[in-house]
Amino acid sequence: MDLRDVLGRAVVLAPMAGGPTTPELVLAGADAGALGFLAAAYRTADQVRAEMASLGRVPYGVNVFVPGHPAEPPTAYVERLRSEGFDVAEPTWDDDHWDDKIELLLAEPPPVITFTFGCPDHDVVEALQERSAVGITVTVPEEAALAVAVGASFLCVQGHEAGAHRGTFTNAAVPDARPLPQLLADIRAGTDLPLLAAGGVGTAEDVRALLTAGAIGVQCGTAFLRCPEAGTRQVWKDALAEPRYTETVVTRAFSGRPARGLRNRFIDDHPDAPAAYPEINKATRPLRAAGDPEAMSLWAGTGWRSAEARPVAEVLDRLSS
Ligand SMILES: Cc1cc2nc3c(=O)[nH]c(=O)nc-3n(C[C@H](O)[C@H](O)[C@H](O)COP(=O)(O)O)c2cc1C
Repeated sequence: MDLRDVLGRAVVLAPMAGGPTTPELVLAGADAGALGFLAAAYRTADQVRAEMASLGRVPYGVNVFVPGHPAEPPTAYVERLRSEGFDVAEPTWDDDHWDDKIELLLAEPPPVITFTFGCPDHDVVEALQERSAVGITVTVPEEAALAVAVGASFLCVQGHEAGAHRGTFTNAAVPDARPLPQLLADIRAGTDLPLLAAGGVGTAEDVRALLTAGAIGVQCGTAFLRCPEAGTRQVWKDALAEPRYTETVVTRAFSGRPARGLRNRFIDDHPDAPAAYPEINKATRPLRAAGDPEAMSLWAGTGWRSAEARPVAEVLDRLSS
């Protein structure tokens, strides 16, 4: 399977785990001629299977997080949160049902699969590639070289401008800060594979610039967060439109992994969270669920000001004009 055969419009709906991506969002994209991704993270294989089945025969992709390794238990950080009065859970590690998800994708192959947070083994990529186009998310040229070496069919090039988690292969990596067009050019210099570009895209001009810089498609997340078809919680949708949020920053405070979101009190108060993902993500789940916009992750990319509360089809038209 070649990504180009199912790409449709140049704008792709990014996978957005943790609520925003719904089958409705992917279907709305498909109805308007755009490829969309289901987010398999934080779900069982059975839940992913049900979402895949609900899409019917439209072209779509499935995104899976590659598990890392258990970190030094972030005991002190979690205790500190507890002592501050936050509701926290145990900072446990798991592989997010990796084997079951690979089994599912082999048994019921979607047209496109992408991986994030690491590089699967060559054998896994090769087996999936018989029936699906397999992409790997990369954030620096060194990761791109590894993804090429395991036989990826295409790369998702994620710039530092992107909303939510950086897709770095290791959690300890210091996130690269070169602008996305430059990153794209640097990765293009080392491979001929098709590239999807992601990060900070809010306007049709941004899209055009990335296509000119060599991407075959542009994967947007934040631009769709406020759409009625997205499952983004209302408090988060509202925050994206509030003037009191004036910038996005990268933080480990909520999840133990670098991620970009609207700067709020919790981020300011916890600048020194350790690198422990998914342990800290598990621990902060109850406090993130409590619904206080100053103490929850309001993930957003640098182009968040352009995100509008309009249907997917209209956002796609605006980004394509
Ligand atoms: C709320 C949210 C959740 C995300 N979840 C995922 C995910 O599950 N898998 C993934 O590969 N990327 C995920 N991303 C990153 C996107 O794939 C993409 O890199 C990013 O949205 C591009 O930047 P933008 O948000 O500025 O458009 C997420 C982004 C957002 C905003």
